Amino acid sequence: MTPGTTTLEATGTAGATVPPRVAIVGATGAVGSTLMELMESRGFRYGELHLVASSRSAGRVLTVGEREYTVVAVEDFDFSRVDVAFFSAGTAVSEKWVPVATEAGALVIDNTIAFRMDPDTPLVVPQVNAHELDRRPASGIVANPNCSTIPLVRLLRGVEDRWGVRNAVVSTYQAASGLGYSGVEELQESSRAALQGPDADFEATHFRPTLAFNVIPKIDRFLDSGFTLEEEKMLRESRKILGLPHLDVTTTCVRVPVANCHSEAVYVECQEPVDRAELVRLLAALPEVRVHDEETISAFPTPAVVDSSDIVHVGRVRVTQNNPRAFWLWLVADNLRIGAALNALQIGEELVARGTLEGRP
Ligand SMILES: NC(=O)c1ccc[n+]([C@@H]2O[C@H](COP(=O)([O-])OP(=O)(O)OC[C@H]3O[C@@H](n4cnc5c(N)ncnc54)[C@H](OP(=O)(O)O)[C@@H]3O)[C@@H](O)[C@H]2O)c1
Repeated sequence: MTPGTTTLEATGTAGATVPPRVAIVGATGAVGSTLMELMESRGFRYGELHLVASSRSAGRVLTVGEREYTVVAVEDFDFSRVDVAFFSAGTAVSEKWVPVATEAGALVIDNTIAFRMDPDTPLVVPQVNAHELDRRPASGIVANPNCSTIPLVRLLRGVEDRWGVRNAVVSTYQAASGLGYSGVEELQESSRAALQGPDADFEATHFRPTLAFNVIPKIDRFLDSGFTLEEEKMLRESRKILGLPHLDVTTTCVRVPVANCHSEAVYVECQEPVDRAELVRLLAALPEVRVHDEETISAFPTPAVVDSSDIVHVGRVRVTQNNPRAFWLWLVADNLRIGAALNALQIGEELVARGTLEGRP
C-alpha cells in the first residue's frame, strides 16, 4: 500500500454515492488536526485519506480513527488521486499548490485568504449560503472565510432577514490559536517568562509586543487606510457571503491572551425597532447557535467555558436605551472549529449531500 493511504470499503447502501477520496494539506497543523478529529466524530465517510504537509513532516505517522497514516510532503503528492483536498497550510502554500490540485481534477476547500475574493470562487458558510454549493465552482475551489467572519455572518443573516441591518460595529477578542500551534506555544512560554519577572529572557516570533498579560490591537498587516488586513477581511467577506455589497461593517480586531476561541462584541443598528425577546428567540432558533441569556439575563459564554464546542455561543443581548433600532451582543466561537475546520468540513458534507463532487472534470 502507498504510504499515507488507507482504502476503506465503500459500504454504502445501494444507490448511495461513493465516498470521496480526500487529502488534507496541513494535516500536522492545528486546523488540520481538528479537521481529522471532526471527520471521525461526525462520521464523514471517505474512500481514501491522504495526509499532506511540508517536507519537515514527511514520514511522520498520524492516527486517524483506528488507522495509521504516513504524512507525505506536498511536493511528492499526486492530487489526481483525490476528489477533494482540504488546504490549511498557509496562504503561500495555497497560492502555489491549489492550482496544481484543481488542474489535477480535485475540488479544493481552501482555508486561506488566497482565493476568497475571486469571483469564480464561492465563499461559503453552510448555514448562510449553502446553495452556492449546488454547482461545481468554475475555479474548482470553495473558499472558507476568515475565522471571525464566520460566526458574525451566521447571526447577521437572521437579523438582516427580520429587521434589515443598517450597520454593524464589531470588536474582536481573538485567541492565540488563530496562529496555530506555535501561537499557543508562544503565549504559554511568554506567560511563563513574564511571571519570572520583567527581565526574564524571552524572544517573541509571533506576537509583538508580547501577548502575555497584554492585548494587541493589530492582527495581520496594516493597510494604507489605517485598518488592518484582518479588519478589511471582515468587511469584504461579510458582504460577499451575505450578498450585501453595501453592508456597513466596521471592526477593531484585537489579539488577547486566550489559548483558543475568539470572542466578539457586536453592535448592530437595524432599519426598524428591535424587540429583545423576539431577537433572543430569533438568535436561539438559528442553526447551531445557543443564546445563554435566553432564560437568565446574567448568563454569558466565555472562551474557557465553551472551548471545543461546535456551536456559536451568544450572550449579553441588549437593545440600546437611546436607540430602539440598535442592539449589542457578545459571541464566542471556537476559531479552530467554527472558524476553520468545522466550517470546511460542513462545506465538504454539503458537497457530498448535493452530489456536487460527482461532476469531476
Ligand atoms: N488557526 C486558526 O484559527 C485558523 C482559522 C482560519 C484559517 N486558518 C488558516 O489555516 C492555515 C493553517 O493554520 P493552522 O492554525 O493550522 O497553522 P499551524 O498549526 O501552524 O499548521 C500549519 C500547517 O501547514 C503546514 N505547512 C507549513 N508550511 C508548509 C509548506 N511549505 N508546505 C506544506 N505544508 C506546510 C504545516 O506542516 P509542517 O508540520 O510540516 O510544518 C502544518 O501542517 C493558515 O493559512 C491559517 O490562516 C487558521
